[in-house]
Amino acid sequence: MSIQARVNGERLIRALADFAAIGATPSGGVNRQALSPEDRVARRLLAERALARGFSVHQDNAANLFIRRDGTEHALPALMIGSHLDSQPTGGRFDGALGTLSAFEVLEALADAEIPTARAIEVVSFTNEEGSRFTPGCMGSMAFAGVQAVGDWQGATATDGARFEDELAATLAALPEARMRQQRAEIFAFVELHIEQGPVLERAEVPIGVVTGVQGTRWIEVTFTGEAAHAGTTPREFRKDAMAAAARAIAELQAEIMPCDPQARLTVGRFSLEPGSINVIPRQVSFTVDLRHPDSAALAEIEQRLGDTCARAGAQAGCILAIERRLDMPPARFAPALAAATEAACRRLGIASWPMTSGAFHDALFVNRVAPSAMIFVPCRDGVSHNEAEFVADDHILQGAETLLELALD
Ligand code: GLV
Ligand code: MN
Ligand code: MN
Ligand code: MN
Repeated sequence: MSIQARVNGERLIRALADFAAIGATPSGGVNRQALSPEDRVARRLLAERALARGFSVHQDNAANLFIRRDGTEHALPALMIGSHLDSQPTGGRFDGALGTLSAFEVLEALADAEIPTARAIEVVSFTNEEGSRFTPGCMGSMAFAGVQAVGDWQGATATDGARFEDELAATLAALPEARMRQQRAEIFAFVELHIEQGPVLERAEVPIGVVTGVQGTRWIEVTFTGEAAHAGTTPREFRKDAMAAAARAIAELQAEIMPCDPQARLTVGRFSLEPGSINVIPRQVSFTVDLRHPDSAALAEIEQRLGDTCARAGAQAGCILAIERRLDMPPARFAPALAAATEAACRRLGIASWPMTSGAFHDALFVNRVAPSAMIFVPCRDGVSHNEAEFVADDHILQGAETLLELALD
């Protein structure tokens, strides 16, 4: 006789701790960057747990990992749930892992209760959502949605020098028991549970955010090239100081963009200079700019201003400017019907919810192009994420997982 499906909270919280131990950092965070040995260990563990429960395991050529519990109606496309297992270099325990492991808990809860579903339910863990080791982020979901192909990233090198194709091949080979999928299996819809990564839900004391869309992101790499010279002997008018150009450009961007538009976000997250000697004028400086805005036209206008500001700063310092756009994710709106279904699921469970836009990008942004998608957010302490201190209260973990299960049963 079947019983009602219930999230096993203890098991889910234990699973989160088990995965947090893979790539654990001394400060309590996680360094499990995409396609790294740690990422492979996490994928292995999930695949082993899946096979032990009798679910089937598949991967595609982007090393997206799929765990399937079959439905009774084989002709119906599956409902997909999940997120990612890769992390930032100084990431938290919940970004990505919460959605992936909660989705796996949904499968286990259905199996425990012996509840058949008409559609298959597939848990997905997308490859390289973060984009910190290999640019761009969301590689796996982009490949899944056909927005880009794996071949587009041949030749990409990681921040640690590893080659994309080598790391991808090693990751695929690490799961020989996974069946290879040559083509994307049709899906009915996708639901991704994730931590909010900002302060809105916690401040409002609302446990569930129903995500209606995602703001746009552009990643830009700026390089100023001048000339290395002696720090002590080179008069001002002879200098081609790449650092002077970069410092001026960054200061102007910080002063212009966000103060003039409260919806804009601008972050210089990576910075390098050469040759990097105390008494040598820097020859070359490169930095990355992460730009976000909910409005496409505003994002394009900010990128234009960034180009103008950098060109002025380069000319003033006698340096050559090169700008390369590394990523362009336009803002997206999720399927209103699925957002309504998420709200209704929360109402049935007696959990308060709140509609909101995501400030971070997520795999659902790309899956949304090929199937209706939705996201469920839960609060994180002090809104802190992409930080080893990231923390989610057990109650919020459970409410998120219960909402996901309720939707899966809808
Ligand atoms: C991805 O994690 C992002 O930067 O939004
Ligand atoms: Mn994430
Ligand atoms: Mn992230
Ligand atoms: Mn993200």
